[in-house]
Amino acid sequence: MSVVQSEMEGEVYFPSPEVIAQANVPDWEAAAEFARNDLEGFWAEQANELEWYRKWDKVLDDSNKPFFKWFTGAKVNIVHNAVDRHVKTWRRNKLALIWVSEDGKEERTFSYYSLNREVNRFANIIKAMGVTKGDRVTIYLPRIPEIVFAMLACAKIGAIHSVVFAGFSVDALRGRIDDSASKLVITADGSWINGKIFELKRTVDEAIKSCPSVENIIVVRRTGHEVPMEAERDHWYDDLCALPIANGKCVTEQLDAEDPLYILYTSGSTGKPKAILHTHGGYMVGTYTTLKHVFDLKDEDRWWCAADPGWVTGHSYIIYGPLILGATSFMFEGGPVYPYPNRWWQLIERYGISVFYTAPTAIRGLMRFGEAWPNKHDLSSLRLLGTVGEPINPEAWKWYYRVIGKEKCPIMDTWWQTETGMFMITPTPVVPLKPGSATRPVFGQEAEILDDSGNPVPDGEEGYLVLKNPWPAMLRTVYGDDERYVRQYWSKYPGKYMTGDSAKRDADGYFWIIGRVDDVIKVSGHRLGTAEIESALVSHPAVAEAAAIGLPHEVKGQAIHCFVLLRAGFAGSPELAEELRQHVSTHMSPIAKPEDIKFVDKLPKTRSGKIMRRVLKARAQGLPEGDISTLEE
Ligand code: WTA
Repeated sequence: MSVVQSEMEGEVYFPSPEVIAQANVPDWEAAAEFARNDLEGFWAEQANELEWYRKWDKVLDDSNKPFFKWFTGAKVNIVHNAVDRHVKTWRRNKLALIWVSEDGKEERTFSYYSLNREVNRFANIIKAMGVTKGDRVTIYLPRIPEIVFAMLACAKIGAIHSVVFAGFSVDALRGRIDDSASKLVITADGSWINGKIFELKRTVDEAIKSCPSVENIIVVRRTGHEVPMEAERDHWYDDLCALPIANGKCVTEQLDAEDPLYILYTSGSTGKPKAILHTHGGYMVGTYTTLKHVFDLKDEDRWWCAADPGWVTGHSYIIYGPLILGATSFMFEGGPVYPYPNRWWQLIERYGISVFYTAPTAIRGLMRFGEAWPNKHDLSSLRLLGTVGEPINPEAWKWYYRVIGKEKCPIMDTWWQTETGMFMITPTPVVPLKPGSATRPVFGQEAEILDDSGNPVPDGEEGYLVLKNPWPAMLRTVYGDDERYVRQYWSKYPGKYMTGDSAKRDADGYFWIIGRVDDVIKVSGHRLGTAEIESALVSHPAVAEAAAIGLPHEVKGQAIHCFVLLRAGFAGSPELAEELRQHVSTHMSPIAKPEDIKFVDKLPKTRSGKIMRRVLKARAQGLPEGDISTLEE
């Protein structure tokens, strides 16, 4: 790539002739033009590259907006395209998954053929436990191959998986199991985190004390430490695998394109986490198309999406997208700095990773350790890089570009959400890049920046980011709460999808994401809701009321700061603050542990009693408080 002065605004990185020659991606303008004129035709063409038991009657059914339907009338199963079809071709011998343990001593690899066997086995087992089409299954597993098998097994038989990130603690897990009314929970004895055991099974035991829906728990052995097992209810996965019932093929259910594939809980403005619902047909086409166009995966590539399968990035781009493409995916159990900050670079070298996708927070964190760590390793296998999860600051972008990509790998800054299921604003390898901008909406999509009353703001000014067109991998609803789906996403600007982000567009039509405008805090790229953090605090006997806000943090992007009003009889102290931080960690998640807790006598509220976090945020940063006309007194 080269930095060139051009007609375009600001600093622009143009793809080199080698990158352009290698790239097998559509011409941007032509594809965008095609999709603009014929949205259904564009997506039908993509869908036709995949296998369907029966093709659709209609590509897009928008007769009941905003409840859009895609590929109606079609019969399909995402697992057919992710696994079954590959087993019939030469790809049966290709590696689908390469997995490495946190300590680097264990390696497990699965060809598409053996992946198919594992998925069949897991599916036979859960079927024998009485799980059927439409049932919800909560999966609470670490980054190990079994999470892939378990998710695909659910999809194969038409059950709805609900993966809960294994970094969540007991209250967060309980809420998600309970809300989904899962009858089966799949977990492990524990997970490895920096050489220590994080209790998973014990957390499940605690969580389901008040979840009457749960009938069975499958426990994958990972850490090997002692955990309590309740007869009848709890089953070791390896014991189940030894049963005759586990053997043999399990048929892949022929489902309607609009049948649910999964729910994934995510935080939005106010209230408890929402279960975002995705379906088989549209999600399959959306993840396939975007991964193919943006990361241009080829058969000789080794793709590493360093996210966790427990977040949408893992769902779409560790599991479904790469498998549908027939790619080889790499999965590492551990994190980037344990035992040393060269862990990732060492793995890239050892496994010849060619396309690497991570979050800005990880890059900023690794930058702090200096260039010597990556420079110890041969990173020449890399040809393309990516980021996701939060805005990437230009310094981190340039470091990633120079130190990791050696100035030859374009960086795909992909903007998207749990709700969108797939990349929405993103370059492709042939698009000129501007550090810090996710560039332009994908083919078939148009984005706008609006002011409060719904008028487009001039280029260069900040406003609300909205999407104008439906897309196949879009969320279909908030599971069990259609009204919330409409209210949250489609009511501020009728007919347009409200993203919850603020952004700017520049004169070249490039989008610059600024951040969330709602009560979502992005801590190290993890999406957390203020409501959940606050309710964890309020569950402590000393706390009467609490408010959580996100403030800028150099490495994490945002860090959680809390304001706490104590109950009568309690006095604030550094010890109590520490106890409360710990309380949030053990009840909600270690990643939600507040950076800082301040004891206050009063919280700024509206006359209707809502905490004005915006005001707290402005005060904490010494910024103007904005419109405070609704503030009480
Ligand atoms: C933020 C993650 C800037 C954004 C896939 C969005 C980004 C939220 C980017 C969704 C990016 C994601 N640049 N911001 N490239 N990607 N975001 O649901 O605020 O965990 O609304 O999905 O992450 O977070 P979620």
